[in-house]
Amino acid sequence: MSDTRFSKNILCIGAGYVGGPTMAVIAAKCPQYKVTVVDINAARIDAWNSDNLPIYEPGLLDVVKQARGRNLFFSTDIDAAIREAQIIFVSVNTPTKTFGEGAGKAADLQYWELTARNIVKVATSDKIIIEKSTLPVKTAEAMGRILNANEKGIKFEVLSNPEFLAEGTAVSDLEKPDRVLIGSQLTPEGIKARDEVVEIYANWVPDEKILTSNIWSSELSKLVANAFLAQRISSINSISALCEKTDANVSEVSRAIGMDTRIGNKFLSSSVGFGGSCFQKDILNLVYICQSYGLSEVADYWERVVLMNEYQKRRFVQNMLKVMFNTVAGKKIALFGFAFKADTGDTRESPAIDVAKQLLEEHAKVVITDPQALNNAKIDLAAYADKIEFIEDPYEAAKGAHAIAVMTEWKEYKALDYKRIFSGMERPSFVFDGRNILNHEELFNIGFNVFPLGQPNHKHF
Ligand code: UDX
Ligand code: UDX
Repeated sequence: MSDTRFSKNILCIGAGYVGGPTMAVIAAKCPQYKVTVVDINAARIDAWNSDNLPIYEPGLLDVVKQARGRNLFFSTDIDAAIREAQIIFVSVNTPTKTFGEGAGKAADLQYWELTARNIVKVATSDKIIIEKSTLPVKTAEAMGRILNANEKGIKFEVLSNPEFLAEGTAVSDLEKPDRVLIGSQLTPEGIKARDEVVEIYANWVPDEKILTSNIWSSELSKLVANAFLAQRISSINSISALCEKTDANVSEVSRAIGMDTRIGNKFLSSSVGFGGSCFQKDILNLVYICQSYGLSEVADYWERVVLMNEYQKRRFVQNMLKVMFNTVAGKKIALFGFAFKADTGDTRESPAIDVAKQLLEEHAKVVITDPQALNNAKIDLAAYADKIEFIEDPYEAAKGAHAIAVMTEWKEYKALDYKRIFSGMERPSFVFDGRNILNHEELFNIGFNVFPLGQPNHKHF
């Protein structure tokens, strides 16, 4: 039964990077709603109920504390929560399939489908089901069929409400979104359900930023937004390779093109490669959908974005190897940063994983430092545990190293005492700046040989 102290009972299944922060912000903004977040992972739920949240996200603990115990609840009692809720967000993971048809590209929908079937099994009243997980186009239709094939006479309306938050800025992205997108069937029931969800966001998002569309446009928009963002990074990374051959400077090129308001200046920072749980997965998903509709030219076009990213990571290590006299065997190399971007402890698809593995293949001694991501790094590289050191203090990590390679743009790394670091390193000492965040002139003057991305290098030999 619904908790009648609240005007709506909202549930989210999946307490991950998306579900947790999204529900925390809804609960903080809307004390009149009861918001429950459930997960099959009890340790995760325990962490959400503690001061040591399961994910590192600036500002999140404050938001959670504002609402937890008042109208925000984290629980493992999935069935009771389903029965109570009128509106259920589903935010379980949808990784790339690793087996069978579409392996390596298509989305693995097994968790989504299991969740849908469990909802049907335990529900005793009509519900609105909202896709928060990124899903292939037309998934809502399939889920609608599964949900509505029940013999209890219960009606489910499936909506799509993709999440556009970026990690590291999740709280501000949720509090001040560029837009909120809600896709529904255009039937009277679909529109009624859509209006219920619009009402939630209207508590803090201006009306003109709440977009409604048909359900397939909404599902597709999430994939396309991520594909376009990743495409910009692959585009500028491709130009970084050309800059290194021509003495042009990719940062100057980014600045010059970014001032064209038609292009815009965001997402033009050249890097060792994009990572994160979404970009690669969503593009491969788009590629798979295009292929399955026979659109091979469109599929190939988008696949190049991922292939260019692979090339950039490979190129970075090949360049290190070439510069360090064609061998890194036995040489200690300190990776500064392991998270896929700054301000998160998340390492999913982090370019640092590939860089570390390639360096290990070359028999380098790899040392990893990161202010938030060392625990995840240890899990990612568990198979190589005996060959890697994980050290929290960057000064210690760089001791005795031949090279530092910057993998993550943590602002801490800009403020380090590089004279002190240099004094403890082997000679010649190298810095490979995979994020172009350090002061290269200054490092060169200290004595480092500096190799930025897409910019002229500074070397003493
Ligand atoms: C997830 C999806 O990966 C992504 O496609 C989508 O856009 C948003 O939701 P994220 O929150 O980053 O993103 O994933 P993750 O941190 O892995 O969280 C998913 C949670 O769902 C996990 O805590 C997992 O334990 C939980 N889960 C999974 C369930 O509660 N039930 C299941 O059956 C499967
Ligand atoms: C992305 C989308 O931005 C977000 O809207 C969606 O909901 C989920 O996927 P996220 O993966 O959390 O968010 O981070 P994002 O800031 O997009 O960065 C992705 C990757 O691109 C990171 O590895 C980042 O370092 C890299 N990047 C970003 C660059 O290499 N250069 C840039 O200019 C910007």
